[in-house]
Amino acid sequence: MKHITKILLLTLPLSWAAMANADQNPQDLIAKGAYLARAGDCTACHTASGGKPFAGGYKIVSGLGTIFSTNITPSKTAGIGNYSEKQFADAVRKGIRADGAYLYPAMPYPDYRGITDADIHALYTYFMQGVAPVDSAAPATDLSFPFSQRWGMRFWNYVFTDDKNFQAASPANEEINRGKYLVETLGHCGSCHTPRGIAMQEKSLNDSDSTFLAGGDLNGWPVPSLRHMDGWKDKDIADYLGAGRNDFAAVGGEMTSVVQHSMQYMSDADLMAIAHYLKSLPDDKPVGNKKPDAVQASSETTKILTEGKNLSSGQLLYLNNCEACHWTDGNGAKGIFPHLNGSDLVRADNPNALIGTILKGAQTPSTSRSPSVLFMPGFASRLTDEQVAELATFIRGGWSNNAPAVTTDQVKKVRDKE
Ligand code: HEC
Ligand code: HEC
Ligand code: HEC
Repeated sequence: MKHITKILLLTLPLSWAAMANADQNPQDLIAKGAYLARAGDCTACHTASGGKPFAGGYKIVSGLGTIFSTNITPSKTAGIGNYSEKQFADAVRKGIRADGAYLYPAMPYPDYRGITDADIHALYTYFMQGVAPVDSAAPATDLSFPFSQRWGMRFWNYVFTDDKNFQAASPANEEINRGKYLVETLGHCGSCHTPRGIAMQEKSLNDSDSTFLAGGDLNGWPVPSLRHMDGWKDKDIADYLGAGRNDFAAVGGEMTSVVQHSMQYMSDADLMAIAHYLKSLPDDKPVGNKKPDAVQASSETTKILTEGKNLSSGQLLYLNNCEACHWTDGNGAKGIFPHLNGSDLVRADNPNALIGTILKGAQTPSTSRSPSVLFMPGFASRLTDEQVAELATFIRGGWSNNAPAVTTDQVKKVRDKE
């Protein structure tokens, strides 16, 4: 069994088209299920760091308390080995466990609701026949009252989940539909990119509503909107998802794990389908915090940094700590060091991702499309809160960027969270 998993991992990513037609052969069905499990990023949550694949025990800190993911290997004693396909489908799409208990939505079943029966069948076949059973139980989730009462989720489900099947795009377009399907269902992109409401529910689960993918927040780290990616072309989106970087940006924060465990395994065709779909969403809000005379403003900042006279402390900190990689023009090096001039992360209203990146540094994942790991050191031990604030304020107002200043207090708050 272990052997099969290994071979499957080696042969991924497979072409989607080849698999779509080949459902009859059991090995092809398992391979298709493995690919869909990648698309759904089941690994990210169901594998603890250093643990066996899908054996659970990954800790999710949620608004309700700490929730442990469960063992979804086909073990009959510790996993889902006794699940029928119907029970598996209900767990994945409705959040109902085989014993009838309700799952917490730390498992993104509200997003998975639209997964087709054919894909559920492939996933089930993969988990039963292509994954090695692990007989050790994951730690049990033990929330305090009232969240310990799983039946309460029934009302939450009634109010906040949808019971509709996946709705195809109109006008129908096969490629956009494929992208929409991957984004809305398996990819559960909305679980981070859609704002959450009062009961922690995603404000919308599909693109019939303009809040869908309009930007979220993960413990204070801003998650960008996917409805208006300023200056990103389809190819840039596909590169970012498949390789972890494109000509001017690199993946950071929680998105690193999405690329590492899930998106890098998608076929080129599926990545382009996702990109086309995202670009098809109405761009309702222009991206803010940008100077109107972008080209001139950019060259002015570059000139000041190049001449190096009468620099502010923010500018000086930039030259001493950042310029070697991100350059005086703030444009970095194509495909290697991301741009700070015009970066969505830098210009975001909420500066926490910029502050967090300066303090902690960042590292791109190694992907088969871009194997080398690019590394940015963290500056937490080298710069004081005040220095980080001055530096971030300069970057947010430098070149074409026009985002509000950062205070020492904002930096302190991010540092205290670490
Ligand atoms: C964002 C994290 C996350 C992702 C992604 C995720 N799961 Fe889960 N899953 C969980 C958590 C947490 C639980 C346990 C929830 C609870 O105890 O109420 C769970 C429970 C389950 C269960 C119920 C098992 C049992 O008997 O307890 C199944 C089946 C399952 N997941 C399958 C999947 C599959 C298949 C995928 C990929 C398509 C997936 N999960 C992706 C977090 C996740
Ligand atoms: C676990 C949370 C999470 C999930 C799930 C997730 N994302 Fe992200 N995504 C993020 C975060 C956080 C960022 C910001 C990255 C940074 O700060 O560098 C991001 C950034 C992005 C960006 C770059 C946007 C920009 O303007 O810089 C794209 C494109 C993107 N995500 C696409 C997707 C797609 C498509 C999916 C679903 C297949 C997805 N994401 C699922 C958290 C997530
Ligand atoms: C040794 C080279 C190096 C140095 C020095 C460096 N960086 Fe970086 N920086 C990188 C690399 C590589 C990345 C991409 C890593 C990733 O996002 O996974 C990055 C990413 C970033 C990002 C995220 C950009 C985006 O759009 O995703 C910001 C912001 C940033 N750096 C700011 C700074 C600041 C401010 C300094 C100085 C305090 C600095 N960097 C110093 C190499 C460097």
